[in-house]
Amino acid sequence: MKFKIAKGAPEAFKADVIVIACFEKEKKEGEKPKPAQLMKEDGGLTIDRKLKGGISKLMAHEEFTGSEGKSKLIFTAGLVPARYALLVGLGQKKSFNLDSLRKAGSAIAKAANDVKANSVAAVFQREPLNEIGVPSRMQAVTEGMILGSYVFDKYKKEEDRKKQTLENCYFIAAGNKSVFEKAVSAGEAIAHATNFARDLGNTPSADMTPSILAGVAKEIGNRNRLSVGVMGLKEIRAEKMEAFLSVAKGSSEPPVFIHMQYKPAKKARARVAIIGKGITFDSGGISIKPAKGMDQMKDDMAGAAAVIAIMKAMASLKPQVSVDAYIPACENMPAGNATKPGDVVRARNGKTIEIISTDAEGRMILADALSFASDKKPDYLIDVATLTGACVYAVGEKYAAILGNDQRLIDKLKRDGEKAGEPLWQLPLEKEYKKGLKKGIADLKNIGSSKADTINGALFLQEFVGDTKWAHIDIASTSWSDEDLPYAPKGSTGAGVRILINFLVNF
Ligand code: BES
Ligand code: MN
Ligand code: ZN
Repeated sequence: MKFKIAKGAPEAFKADVIVIACFEKEKKEGEKPKPAQLMKEDGGLTIDRKLKGGISKLMAHEEFTGSEGKSKLIFTAGLVPARYALLVGLGQKKSFNLDSLRKAGSAIAKAANDVKANSVAAVFQREPLNEIGVPSRMQAVTEGMILGSYVFDKYKKEEDRKKQTLENCYFIAAGNKSVFEKAVSAGEAIAHATNFARDLGNTPSADMTPSILAGVAKEIGNRNRLSVGVMGLKEIRAEKMEAFLSVAKGSSEPPVFIHMQYKPAKKARARVAIIGKGITFDSGGISIKPAKGMDQMKDDMAGAAAVIAIMKAMASLKPQVSVDAYIPACENMPAGNATKPGDVVRARNGKTIEIISTDAEGRMILADALSFASDKKPDYLIDVATLTGACVYAVGEKYAAILGNDQRLIDKLKRDGEKAGEPLWQLPLEKEYKKGLKKGIADLKNIGSSKADTINGALFLQEFVGDTKWAHIDIASTSWSDEDLPYAPKGSTGAGVRILINFLVNF
């Protein structure tokens, strides 16, 4: 898909599909929906007149109310140059935000592909809406179009793969073209990075082993001039990462520890370290998981996928911060030589851990990665992980959970997540629950005694960050969807990518 900024009257614009975005009229509880409102500024009224009132009549019949993310195609029968007019709902004006536009973008791309359109045009008016200016609106629509077009069908036979015809997207707007172009290319970078993370998460574990993941990171590095280093078994042993190694032990796939680095051209405003959990398959180990749904555990490297995708985007977005990305990656498998419940290991920072459940493996590999990264004294340290199944019960599918030791860092991440359309909900790092981690025969147990697993997990991680400003994002609630979402098909969602890109770009 190519995006171009264009000028011209919508009713005369030559594209296969001309988009007419509409707000839903406000209505009270229980009231019948009212017809959506056409706007003069985006050509809605003029096109309706040219179509002899076809749009307004259809609206009067309640076939289109403008509710968020809904769309309706209308054949124009040669009355305007565009073959179709596409009505797209933005929802009610008072609740209009960037996510309304991502949903609209997704609906536009889907509808355009459904009628095998090659080109679509959408009009952006100049006034800010709910304080959102034209460039931000363009960026959000761009994101929605690319995210909404995502399919993962490379394992299907050629004829069954979805054909995407949409190639040219024209954004009609008056104003500073280069500002618009910059916004569009930011949207492209963010959405492509997200789709890339989805690809990694959807790929079966046999085709996404730790070594393959390291290869992906190296390739991204080579193409984007990022330095990438990969530690193998020998070097991981030399680093005394026994907590990490205890997880990798039961698998015949060797572990890797990946380090990717982005440095800005000018002096960095901050040094940020990000860590992604890279369990390429989580069977639970000897504390084996139930069979049902275990296939989803190929996505237990979603944190790692997000981190690699973020680094890919750094090259085009060029933020003024330095970013060090660390990924501990291995499989968690049962085997004759696997770690057994009750075993004790010494983590890189010297603390001993009694492994009560081999299924609480994410915190084991992150423990050593956090200690490694915090030794380098970054200004901020953020880890992204599919850490706990309990996360979705704590915050539901819409939110990822955030916990950490620095409220300003958490508040910034929450703001950036909100803007990115990936909201975060903070859970407390409750000191009282920490006792539960210390009741065993070693310094720490790898599971706590509070019922709040998500908090226990974060409290465990905190033992490995020292006094570094740190935040932990548990994406177990958002990284995978069992159903199609407005701009993500079911499967791996690329969670975390957009939060952290926004965080890094807004320094
Ligand atoms: N990878 C899982 C968490 C997970 C579960 C992510 C479902 C996405 C969907 C993690 O390694 C795990 O197994 N966590 C355990 C922790 C428990 C033993 C304290 C869990 O949540 O059951
Ligand atoms: Mn597990
Ligand atoms: Zn796991």
